[in-house]
Amino acid sequence: MAQLIDGKAISGAVKEQIAQQVSSMQEEQGITPGLAVVLVGEDPASAIYVKNKEKACEEVGFYSEMYTLPTSVTQQELEDLIHTLNEKEDIDGILVQKPLPKGLDEKALVNLIRPDKDVDAFHPENVGHIMQGDFHFLPCTPAGVMELLRASDVNPQGKRAVIVGRSDIVGKPMAMLLLHQNATVTICHSKTQNLAEVCQEADILITAVGKTGLITGDMVKPGAVVIDVGINRDAKGKLCGDVDFKSVEPKASYITPVPGGVGPMTISMLLKNTLAAARLHSGL
Ligand code: GUN
Repeated sequence: MAQLIDGKAISGAVKEQIAQQVSSMQEEQGITPGLAVVLVGEDPASAIYVKNKEKACEEVGFYSEMYTLPTSVTQQELEDLIHTLNEKEDIDGILVQKPLPKGLDEKALVNLIRPDKDVDAFHPENVGHIMQGDFHFLPCTPAGVMELLRASDVNPQGKRAVIVGRSDIVGKPMAMLLLHQNATVTICHSKTQNLAEVCQEADILITAVGKTGLITGDMVKPGAVVIDVGINRDAKGKLCGDVDFKSVEPKASYITPVPGGVGPMTISMLLKNTLAAARLHSGL
């Protein structure tokens, strides 16, 4: 039986720490960290994520601005908004929720965000910092995974880590963070041959694909730590990850549930980055 990694509780503890730091920043310097979130279109999952981000800002005492724009918004209008937010003194962090509707150039927009306000760490300058290991901002979801490992006393040093999924948001930066902590890292993707065999080698198995039931018990080494970044709906419409929990849980030593695993961590890492940005902007 695996031990469940409680992302909700671990995220709650991080948020509590952040709230305390915000409170003393306000008292001592009169500074309140500010986050601007831009949501375009009506993707229901994105709407939920953005709402959760707004709620989390409130919980820790941040100032936040939400920009909910229709699909008909133009690239130019979005670029103008980014320029405005770049200059706004009360905004320390800017986040454009992905994915953007078709026809909008996501990359061009992210590249306009001032790197010192890029709390998602998606700007090429920040991606470069992640490669080099001298972080300004940590990529939120991979940083959340690292925090879960740390909270569970799992040290990646010398371990075989296998990541399934090579996205810019999760897979690639995840590999870097694990590498910086001296894991031996393999990244698998849709063209990987013998996925099951590669996964069986993993001491730490991280999956971020978006495919229900992708990882089954026979693919998992006994005692492996299994981290599920997937957020999917099963046939009954219930939220689930990439991991077939029923068959994997008996083999793993630690496992994250979906929901309540990685998801809550992503938001607390975003708050952490926004706090770091506020510190940077206030010269602390
Ligand atoms: N869409 C899914 N995950 C993320 C994230 O971490 N940041 C942004 N901006 N969009 C996302």
